[in-house]
Amino acid sequence: MRRHPTLSTLAAVCAGLLLIASPAAQAGEKIWISLGDAALAQLQKHAPASSAVASVASAQSGPLVAKSGRVAGAAAAKAETIHLVEIDEDLLGDLSSSIHEELNRCGGFMYHPSKQAGLANLQAHGISAVRPSKVTRPSYVIDEQATLTPMLAQMQASNIGQTILDLSAFTNRFYKTTGGVNASNWLKQRWSNLAAGRSDVTVEQFNHPTWAQKSVILTIRGSDNAREVVVLGGHLDSTAGSGTGETTIAPGADDDASGIASLTEIVRVLMEANYKPRRTLKFMAYAAEEVGLRGSQEIAKSYANFGVNVVGVMQLDMTNYMGSPKDIYIYTDYTDAGQNDFVTRLIQTYLPTLQIGSDRCGYGCSDHASWNAQGFAASMPFEAAFNQSNPRIHTANDTYATSGNQADHALKFARMGLAYAVELGTDGPGTAPPADKVESFKGSLALGEKKSFGPFMVKGGGALKASTVGNGDADLYVKIGAPASSASYDCKSDGGSSTESCSVTVTADGSVYVQLVGYKASTYRLDVSYRPQ
Ligand code: BES
Ligand code: ZN
Repeated sequence: MRRHPTLSTLAAVCAGLLLIASPAAQAGEKIWISLGDAALAQLQKHAPASSAVASVASAQSGPLVAKSGRVAGAAAAKAETIHLVEIDEDLLGDLSSSIHEELNRCGGFMYHPSKQAGLANLQAHGISAVRPSKVTRPSYVIDEQATLTPMLAQMQASNIGQTILDLSAFTNRFYKTTGGVNASNWLKQRWSNLAAGRSDVTVEQFNHPTWAQKSVILTIRGSDNAREVVVLGGHLDSTAGSGTGETTIAPGADDDASGIASLTEIVRVLMEANYKPRRTLKFMAYAAEEVGLRGSQEIAKSYANFGVNVVGVMQLDMTNYMGSPKDIYIYTDYTDAGQNDFVTRLIQTYLPTLQIGSDRCGYGCSDHASWNAQGFAASMPFEAAFNQSNPRIHTANDTYATSGNQADHALKFARMGLAYAVELGTDGPGTAPPADKVESFKGSLALGEKKSFGPFMVKGGGALKASTVGNGDADLYVKIGAPASSASYDCKSDGGSSTESCSVTVTADGSVYVQLVGYKASTYRLDVSYRPQ
């Protein structure tokens, strides 16, 4: 039975937060942070003049955490307001300490590189219950026993343990040290080796312009449903608090070499079985989580901007320290209830001997929160109840030895993650995402009459569809970049009715034109819609 963390262990555990604004920041520099009501009240104790430039009722925030104990479970959820404030960078240390001491929790505020970024985050927060219209909700049907049973048997704790040892052998994996950079390069090589010989698998580094450590992304391209993307992630970086530098020892064995090692074992077994998903699977090792979820925030924002159809996200952050009686705790805040229910059923189906619990961090404690903020369905299954989690994280003692020189606990998470990857990965095209916008035109055509529509200005990387319903016989012509006619088109539909459709794939930003021609006198309604892909 573990004791609850004391204030001093909490201070050690949370020390990474002091670094949130540290890249080359000058003393007295102004930075932007977002924070909840209680954390704002703490800030105002140190800087009474601090006031929010914008505030939004959060769809996802947790209850305030009282010192007397944490309230577990979704029933305790309560809306909180999130505020965007500009503060002096020097105040971060005081703010972090008073959040530990008076609210008995870590985090509670998030760094933003600019006011604009902060406002965008605030907006995402307020609407985070609303998923982007283009995202598909999976069926969550569990039916891959035949594929999964032999694969689950192949998973080995010893492989996970070795990866934890390899990653924790770097002096540290901090986001701006040589160790942090080298660990990213090492993992890229490790994942590339696993993917050798597979032309449908790539390993890339995601460059972050304002710090040195790169995120690592392994992609298994889906065979026939590649546009639907499933993400499994963990964080690559480690920290030992505010002073972490080149020579600081921060093995981060549990936080979060364990999550990366669990993911690596999933990839190994998928490759060994020559598994070919229908959806695209992406395995991500995020940079710079410990300094404010910064790597995952950039990736999730970029995916949202590009309209990537991310149908599900699983975060594995701390999987190898068994501090609580149950095996896997499903965290309910900053996550998606429907997907959490699916993950619970996956465990019941494939790992029936495991006990499942639930808890919450009470703040955006890991990279799932970055995806949640962009409206994607995220889950975070975790090693323990919040206040029984590994007390040695963010110190030189977060080693494989202090997790008992075993990886049996992390193996459970690897198996659950494999079931998640294969059950979601094997689904064919689901409900088509709704088209971006529809414009409708109604009218009539005489025999031989032509009517032109457009130009419709669209972003590259999507399909424009023109369709008609009506009487008589109107023919349809669509052309990219120039007016359409029966003599010049990229797509035509000249069947014998007025109920026709025609689609063009648009690769570059630009214009699309549509023309209707009356083959007979007709009445029509023309719908023009655009579906980003
Ligand atoms: N792995 C931790 C999060 C964590 C710690 C979850 C303990 C549950 C129990 C993560 O790497 C981390 O340290 N997060 C920061 C917040 C982040 C926004 C910098 C934290 O919890 O202080
Ligand atoms: Zn972590």
